[in-house]
Amino acid sequence: MAGYFITFEGIEGSGKSTQIKLLVAHLIKQQIPHLSTREPGGTPIAEAIRKILLDPLCSEMLPEAELLLYSASRAQHTGELILPALAAGKVVISDRYYDSSTAYQGAARDLDYDVIDLLNSFATFHTVPDLTVLLDLPVEEGFKRIDHRDLDRLEQEDISFTKRFDSSFYLLPKNTHPDTLYWMP
Ligand code: TYD
Repeated sequence: MAGYFITFEGIEGSGKSTQIKLLVAHLIKQQIPHLSTREPGGTPIAEAIRKILLDPLCSEMLPEAELLLYSASRAQHTGELILPALAAGKVVISDRYYDSSTAYQGAARDLDYDVIDLLNSFATFHTVPDLTVLLDLPVEEGFKRIDHRDLDRLEQEDISFTKRFDSSFYLLPKNTHPDTLYWMP
């Protein structure tokens, strides 16, 4: 039995974790087998890569290295955790997935979309979400909601970094997958 794969996307502070908690509470109540996970991370190796990616001391990181590290984390996460859970028939919920690479490494870092698309599909073993929930919030609003005392490497970027794309960017036809239902509540 194949499971059902749901991803949540949106800028920092858009409320993904709150909505995921509500969905998980609902699945528990309905006794629906599920797995809730996140990117970058989700497995010990992918969490180790996450530490490097978010470490403010890694400010010298080149965009190319950044894209490859997100992809490496995704490959481990997908192969070790997501695919077995889907094969076991679970609902899998991921806080971010490959659309974040298209948005952050593509629009914000200006890396080549063809390279990103290729890596997205390689790192996911061609897995695509069944449903992607996209939470919409103005960048200024999201920026206000971040805890500014303890910023990670990405959050330390100037607001203009995230401003290079907004929620609607995710829904551009070239950025959506035809097998995924994109929902902006
Ligand atoms: P996290 O603390 O999980 O942020 P959020 O609560 O906003 O999800 O940090 C993840 C950061 O990594 C976030 O700034 C977005 C960024 N990111 C990318 O740049 N590319 C990616 O492929 C992924 C998955 C995340």
